[in-house]
Amino acid sequence: MSSSSQPSLGRLKGKVAIVTGGASPQGFGYAIARRFIEEGAKVIIGDLDGSGAESSASSFSTPNAKGVAMDVCKQEDWQRVVEMAVKEFGGVNILVNNAGCTYRNKPTAEVTEDEFERVMSVNVKSIFWSVKVVVLQMQKQGQGGSIINISSSGSVRPRPGLVWYNASKGAVSNATMALAAEYGPDQIRVNAIAPLLSATGLFESF
Ligand SMILES: NC(=O)c1ccc[n+]([C@@H]2O[C@H](COP(=O)([O-])OP(=O)(O)OC[C@H]3O[C@@H](n4cnc5c(N)ncnc54)[C@H](O)[C@@H]3O)[C@@H](O)[C@H]2O)c1
Repeated sequence: MSSSSQPSLGRLKGKVAIVTGGASPQGFGYAIARRFIEEGAKVIIGDLDGSGAESSASSFSTPNAKGVAMDVCKQEDWQRVVEMAVKEFGGVNILVNNAGCTYRNKPTAEVTEDEFERVMSVNVKSIFWSVKVVVLQMQKQGQGGSIINISSSGSVRPRPGLVWYNASKGAVSNATMALAAEYGPDQIRVNAIAPLLSATGLFESF
């Protein structure tokens, strides 16, 4: 995922995006951030792996990309990252809730409580906090916005062995539709993307 062949059309010129989970050059978040920058956006990459997020940002060789450590499960981290977006780039127009996790594919009765709670927290609670912090900022700016939640094909076509991962992504897709209906009047679009399988860091666990 480290090369792009599409031409830049400047479609995101003047926009500021927060992309979560972009620490790995093999991951979706990195490719999304790179494409956004090519299209003219300013991007903050937030990831639990702060040094990975920073090296992703510096690999783009532009002042329009910044990386920062954040735990998407924590409200205070969302607040800090939004404050950074306002201070560094003037606001937030786009949010990509891409950070996610899974446990290793296995019989569902063997999934531990910790694994269940982590998958629900990283994949679902992250969106709960992002709404409370980022949507408020978008409403304050009064210019609408776009939120993209990275769900999974497992949200609609679940298979054995990853039951609670799939269920967490079902919640992501379901919440996306209700959020779109709720914040549409504020011109804040909310969409989900449901990928199948790609050779990222999570691939081996799937
Ligand atoms: N790879 C696939 O086949 C596939 C398929 C469907 C959906 N997805 C989804 O795509 C998204 C991106 O995953 P990926 O496949 O690029 O893997 P990845 O491992 O490269 O990306 C996940 C990133 O999320 C970060 N992260 C995990 N917990 C975090 C937290 N609490 N706070 C902040 N960051 C955290 C990780 O450090 C990692 O950089 C995930 O939501 C995943 O569920 C992936």
